[in-house]
Amino acid sequence: MLSPSVDSPAGADLPSGALDPVEPACPVEPALEAGQAPPDLLRAVAEASPFPMLICRKHDGVIVHANGKLGELVDSHPAELVGRRALELCDDATARDAALRELDCEGRVRERELRVKTRGGARLWAAFSLEPLQVPCEEHGRAPAVGREVGPELLVGALCDVTRRRETEEALSRSEARYRGFVESSSELVFAIDTKATLTYLSPNVSRLLGHQPSHLLGKALDVLVHGCDLPRLLQSAQRVIATGEEVSSDPRSQRERRARQEFRMLRSDGSARWFCAALAPIRNAAGEVVGLTGTAHDISSEKAALEELERAHQHLRDAQLQLVRTEKMASLGLLMAGIAHEIRTPLGAVQSTQRTISQALDKLGERLHEAFPEALEDSKLGRLLKVLTDSTRVVGDGSTRMTDIVQRLRKFSCAEEAKLCPVDVNAIADDTLALIHHELKHYVAIQRCYGEGVTLMGYPARLNQVLVNLLINAAQAVRARGNGKITLETRAMGDHIEISVSDDGVGISPENLGQIFSCGFTTRHGEGGSGLGLAISKEIVDAHQGSLEVKSQLGCGSTFTVRLPRSLSDCRKPNRGCRF
Ligand SMILES: Nc1ncnc2c1ncn2[C@@H]1O[C@H](COP(=O)(O)OP(=O)(O)OP(=O)(O)O)[C@@H](O)[C@H]1O
Ligand SMILES: [Mg+2]
Repeated sequence: MLSPSVDSPAGADLPSGALDPVEPACPVEPALEAGQAPPDLLRAVAEASPFPMLICRKHDGVIVHANGKLGELVDSHPAELVGRRALELCDDATARDAALRELDCEGRVRERELRVKTRGGARLWAAFSLEPLQVPCEEHGRAPAVGREVGPELLVGALCDVTRRRETEEALSRSEARYRGFVESSSELVFAIDTKATLTYLSPNVSRLLGHQPSHLLGKALDVLVHGCDLPRLLQSAQRVIATGEEVSSDPRSQRERRARQEFRMLRSDGSARWFCAALAPIRNAAGEVVGLTGTAHDISSEKAALEELERAHQHLRDAQLQLVRTEKMASLGLLMAGIAHEIRTPLGAVQSTQRTISQALDKLGERLHEAFPEALEDSKLGRLLKVLTDSTRVVGDGSTRMTDIVQRLRKFSCAEEAKLCPVDVNAIADDTLALIHHELKHYVAIQRCYGEGVTLMGYPARLNQVLVNLLINAAQAVRARGNGKITLETRAMGDHIEISVSDDGVGISPENLGQIFSCGFTTRHGEGGSGLGLAISKEIVDAHQGSLEVKSQLGCGSTFTVRLPRSLSDCRKPNRGCRF
């Protein structure tokens, strides 16, 4: 039986010496005792084999024959190998000991891959087998000696050079290890699914990124990992990759790729979600068929949050720009109004005083005529002329009085008044506003005024006028959208607060719009000149007065807007041009 080498840690308790080179190494087959030489037939078979082969003695492993292919493999003449121990061909002591133990236990070595060193020092990998062979003595062609009816116990060894395959495998496993290392240390989440969207791989960093144990998710549908709202889109792309074998890139550079960019939410173990962007690539089997896909997903949650923040800032900027334009327009209109009111006031004064003079003169003329020519006045034509003149003068007087009234109210709206924080009679403001927009309402809206007592507060009358104009015009538009209807303007004193409410029985506001109507730019009257600023501006003015503006509405029934204002302002924040409005 073969024995392990003394230097083998694994074989320390086995008999030593069996692997020591036999000295001196014979360049030719050693002289074998009768019955120890391999039979000719065996030699012939070994020589004919296309594989490297050897025949060795079972009890000490000494090679008694090596074929030419073995000589080629280890770069030696076959005769040089004869006399050496078979397992000496193996260069690795541990592997050699393991082979020896197998031989000891099993009586054979079954295709072990061992390192073989050539004479030139090159190292090869060979699949090495040793099979026992008992040669019957008859085959020697001699008569068996007494007690030696069977031939020598031999082992037939075969080697197969697997260096190429081993190197390829090693390179592959090195590359796999590199890849695994890369995947595991990367911040990208790598996943793989089969054609049924079942998870077949998840990189270990899924526990760090999403708090899941990969083993809990493997074999489950992709649904467990991807947010329900984003799943259909992702599955659609996955189907496309599987059907066409085309990759989907996460690089947003080209327009096409930007469209294909897969952004979706992945679910964390605590139920929250994070945004990822993934590149998808097909997985093919040896026949080149697509059997699944891999996704390399990058966490873009912070990028998304920054973009949303940017979007909000952009929206805010747009709102501010709109407001600025509107503010400037209002300011210019205010100035224009103040200018016009001022310019009209003087000629209007002249008209009024002239009207008064004419009126007085006409009265006197009537009296004189009556005294001097009573019969003439009996003439109906003269009397009628005098009456026409008197009536016309009264109409001019009424008109000019009304014009003066309007001019005065216009001045209250204008910039000339805006800087003054002063006591405001809310009922007077309501009347002023109604008077100014009367022309807008009179044909289709019935106005009901329900004024409370003692509704005075400290405020900016021009700005509060602006709030009421916006609310009343909105109410009128809502009523007009239904044909005609009613607006109720109510004022109430509520302790240290004043309430003003504008109610209409117009079209009302849908619940989904209700939360947006105070947003700058929100309008449902796009085609009708609505800019969506009226309520935003009103709210800002009310806020600046430290008050609140609330709405209750029912679609199809009408709306009520309620302004609640404190009687006095705790500090002097001024909702004028120094402010945004
Ligand atoms: N009384 C109301 N009844 C029904 N809808 C209303 C009423 N008041 C406001 N709304 C809704 O709120 C939206 C915003 O009103 P807001 O006054 O801010 O803008 P707008 O009237 O559309 O335009 P503008 O800037 O010219 O006033 C309106 O478009 C409308 O849909
Ligand atoms: Mg409006």
